[in-house]
Amino acid sequence: HGTSRVNEKGHLEIGGVDTVDLVEQYGTPLYVYDVALIRKRAREFKNTFEELGIKAQVAYASKAFSSIAIVQLAHEEGLSLDVVSGGELYTALKAGFPPNKIHFHGNNKSVEEITMALEAKIGCIVVDNFHEIDLLKELTKQLSQKVDILLRVTPGVEAHTHDYITTGQEDSKFGFDLHNGQIENAIELVLHDPHIHLLGIHCHIGSQIFETKGFVLATEKIFRKIAEWKERYSFTPNVLNLGGGFGIRYTKDDDPLPMKVYVEKMVEVVKEHSQQLNIDLPEIWIEPGRSLVGDAGTTLYTIGSQKNVPDIRKYLAIDGGMSDNIRPALYQAKYEAVLANRLNDKPNETVSIAGKCCESGDMLIWDLPLPEAKTGDILAVFCTGAYGYSMANNYNRICRPAVVFVENGEAKLVIRRESYEDLVHLDLPLHTEMLA
Ligand code: LLP
Repeated sequence: HGTSRVNEKGHLEIGGVDTVDLVEQYGTPLYVYDVALIRKRAREFKNTFEELGIKAQVAYASKAFSSIAIVQLAHEEGLSLDVVSGGELYTALKAGFPPNKIHFHGNNKSVEEITMALEAKIGCIVVDNFHEIDLLKELTKQLSQKVDILLRVTPGVEAHTHDYITTGQEDSKFGFDLHNGQIENAIELVLHDPHIHLLGIHCHIGSQIFETKGFVLATEKIFRKIAEWKERYSFTPNVLNLGGGFGIRYTKDDDPLPMKVYVEKMVEVVKEHSQQLNIDLPEIWIEPGRSLVGDAGTTLYTIGSQKNVPDIRKYLAIDGGMSDNIRPALYQAKYEAVLANRLNDKPNETVSIAGKCCESGDMLIWDLPLPEAKTGDILAVFCTGAYGYSMANNYNRICRPAVVFVENGEAKLVIRRESYEDLVHLDLPLHTEMLA
């Protein structure tokens, strides 16, 4: 997919660059991003709204992969940006991303984070709870500043995905409940505040979703409320943010819809209900993370040791694992992989790919068909672009990988590999005289 292909040497090539050369230059594990594919995905979303003549913002949910380079690429493609912490906000500002196109999320924003967002004059704050309303009222008053907000609602919709990544169900830590008066209390608190401008409503029902049903249900529920709010407060939202969550194909068992289809369905439902209520069509905002960067990322590893458990299983160990991709351990996520240096060799055995962390659960892929692999072969794991590097960690004090962007035959290092020096950078000694 994307610009990936087999080159004349039988190697995996991405963005016109031979992955075997990338490994020689940058080492492994290595995250490789197909920039053209990210651009294509971004344009699919943006163009669909444009073709339908709908005012929209497509905000890249930077939690999927946040770094200075990706934020700059998002800007180049005309995307807005969703950040969920001071750290993601800092990254965006540092990258030079226009503050007015940044949306700030999170269910427990601190005073420091909100202050940082207000001082940077970011585009909008997505308010999650009553505590945050109190903080915002106080801080905007102190800074004599006015801020645009969306109120996040919990629509009470079950999205069919892994339990840990559903967020729209009633029993959720996120947002104001839609069914029990919480959202009305919130609206009343902000509607006439001189420093707060209620721009609209936000909801996000979950992640890695394969159908439009959940989005439709959530939108319908919100519109039933809008009908009420129109009568009661003369308030109707200028913006309706329907979140992210559009599913991608990790393996052949996944059957995602084309991104266009989600957008078209959303637009259809929002249009229909706005007409029924006789209100102006709100701007539609979405926040895709995974679907913008997920399938554009490939991780390259070097195969090291092997262990055969006779008649049961062959383990092949790679030089990374749950330290650079925790998704298999955390969500039983499935991936597909190939030997990047031997693409013309037919798979002739089934192996399981083990990470190098001291933990039996550190298995990247179970039962993967591969050609018989040798130490030094390069394993390319596909679709690791979202929630891979961004959830990477230093368990076992393993250094986080480097990240390169490839496009039109050129590679650019965008995150350098962590060094042992980096690992101890924050450590302070108990006994200075003992230090080596
Ligand atoms: N907007 C909000 C409010 C969100 O909470 C999320 C994801 C997104 C947008 C972007 O969703 P996406 O388009 O990427 O599905 N670590 C998990 C995914 C957690 C998603 C959290 N929220 C994973 O690796 O699958």
